[in-house]
Amino acid sequence: MKTTIRNIQQQKERGEPIVMLTAYDYTSAKLAAHAGVDLLLVGDSLGMVIQGYETTLPVTLDDIIYHTRAVVRGAPATLVVADMPFMTYQVSPEQALTNAGRVMQESGAQAVKLEGGQAMAETVRRLVEVGIPVMGHIGLTPQSVNQLGGWRVQGRNPAEAERLIADALALEAAGAFGIVLELVPIELAAAITARLTIPTIGIGAGPHCDGQVQVFHDIIGLFEDFQPKHARRYAEAGAVIRQAVGQYAADVRGGVFPNDSNASHLSPELASLYAPIPGDVLVAA
Ligand code: KIV
Repeated sequence: MKTTIRNIQQQKERGEPIVMLTAYDYTSAKLAAHAGVDLLLVGDSLGMVIQGYETTLPVTLDDIIYHTRAVVRGAPATLVVADMPFMTYQVSPEQALTNAGRVMQESGAQAVKLEGGQAMAETVRRLVEVGIPVMGHIGLTPQSVNQLGGWRVQGRNPAEAERLIADALALEAAGAFGIVLELVPIELAAAITARLTIPTIGIGAGPHCDGQVQVFHDIIGLFEDFQPKHARRYAEAGAVIRQAVGQYAADVRGGVFPNDSNASHLSPELASLYAPIPGDVLVAA
């Protein structure tokens, strides 16, 4: 049975930690689903880990739709949330409706995520009114990295902390079904979590959130440009892949791959009609 936003809400009520992970393609989605994650996020972090940009800003709506379709095919029973890219929802609630509607209709996602607090409350309300579940995202909001002046922890002074609490409450009141807290101090994330009836999903926000989200490539050691402090590597997939690809190259160059088991033969009668295989000795009939 497919996971729904109701199941996620019930996990908070039962005090059961919610496990969320990004996925951008069929194969990784299938692996993550089989490993038992509760929610998959097709994050606009794909701009950095898949497309190689320095920020998430260049990601387009078509990119998100394309990747989300693949993820939904890989994890048909998992709740899939699609990120709304930069400038596809900030212009007006109507713009957000049109674009979130496209994501839902064309990608198969069951919910969207968008960045921003009180300023986005009206937009969240409009989406929820028409039946589009929305996850909020506050704290370090990567689409505002230029305004924030870098990838910095948010909410460290009393004014910022109060603003983040107000942002979270505004999103809950607008109907969001959950909120990502990114790079928020542990105590503040705990205070926000305690004030909300909807789940908080932390990334770099400590252990007291209702759930955690991480970037797939970070936790398996596949993205090696830098290692975020908030991530823990559970594997060294980059090293494993380099070793495997290096061995493949060495085998091709050494004539070790492919061998007979990797291809097929013609029958001897048919084979005799064709040119001899290099290295074979021709025997006169
Ligand atoms: O794009 C993304 O992957 C995200 C997570 C870091 C929450 O927004």
